[in-house]
Amino acid sequence: MRVLGIESSCDETGVALYCLERGLLAHRLHSQIALHAAYGGVVPELASRDHVRRLLPLVQEVLAEAGLHRGQIDGVAYTAGPGLIGALMVGAAAGRALAWALDVPAVGVHHLEAHLLAPLLEGGPMPTPFVALLVSGGHSMLIEVAELGSYRLLGDTLDDAAGEAFDKTAKLLGLPYPGGAALAQLATQGQTTHSFARPLTDRPGLDFSFSGLKTQVMLAIQRNQPLDDSGRANVAKSFEEAVTETLAIKCRRAMQQTGAGLLIVAGGVGANRRLRERLAADADGGGWQLRYPRTAFCTDNGAMVALAGALRLAAGDRQDLAIDVRPRWDLSELAPMRFELPPTFARAA
Ligand code: KG4
Ligand code: ZN
Repeated sequence: MRVLGIESSCDETGVALYCLERGLLAHRLHSQIALHAAYGGVVPELASRDHVRRLLPLVQEVLAEAGLHRGQIDGVAYTAGPGLIGALMVGAAAGRALAWALDVPAVGVHHLEAHLLAPLLEGGPMPTPFVALLVSGGHSMLIEVAELGSYRLLGDTLDDAAGEAFDKTAKLLGLPYPGGAALAQLATQGQTTHSFARPLTDRPGLDFSFSGLKTQVMLAIQRNQPLDDSGRANVAKSFEEAVTETLAIKCRRAMQQTGAGLLIVAGGVGANRRLRERLAADADGGGWQLRYPRTAFCTDNGAMVALAGALRLAAGDRQDLAIDVRPRWDLSELAPMRFELPPTFARAA
């Protein structure tokens, strides 16, 4: 079954073709980072308009790359939420209409489920139960996955998401939006000279809170004016140490609490090298496995939507003719996916 996947929940237009039997056939991404950079964050109306411009040409490119024509698409999946409503509407309207025109089934995919299942793009299957750390610009979550489609929220952010904290701190250090990767790069030249807090690690629980850290960084910058390049690198390093240690502490707790044997990490912050080093050391010590999607599929992309959509369609999920999006959508509302994966699936992925 060949499924066209469309991602348009925020500032990336992603399109991919995924085949349950053969794996990923083609994928393309257009990032709007340059479009929003001047504003220091995503401007929703500009995002929607750019998705309108980019989406259909990307569909053509993906089909050409896979050497397929439209009539060979067996289903269409699009991100139906959570996300920016206008941006979601573009992908949902195009995806639903395309499926109607081709007379194939359509399915609206939960963006976070797509992130959670993205490691399957590298080789499957993932043994359940597992724990997922989802750390992106909009989310910092720990989720227990009892079986595919069955998700229990163990911890969530009380304020800023991990990626948001990286981006805001990067902005304070004069780095362009979105600054997570640039801040991590700057941190490689710095020392841990500031002792920033590890928020909420001094009490039980798996929730996160990163907004106070941003204030600590602001005060450190003010105290150390004028800040030269090595001063900026030291702040970046100290901040990265604080966030990654906090995330690692909570992951350790979640693994101990659930007794799961596998931790998967998804979302843009999952690309962070220091976080990966810490989690690898903990996995070695704790005896659990650790898995990531490839770096390009840690951030938003169409491949994860095509994969999640293919599994949902195989499990019998269908979107009726309505164009339906959900800017807010609780992961725990999803239904478990109970079906036999094709025997070729593990090899295909
Ligand atoms: O998953 P994603 O592409 O989009 C959302 O759904 O939010 O994640 C983007 C986030 C941004 O906040 C970005 O700064 C952050 O991931 N990010 C990083 C790194 N690469 C991307 N944060 C820390 N270290 C990195 N290497
Ligand atoms: Zn995302």
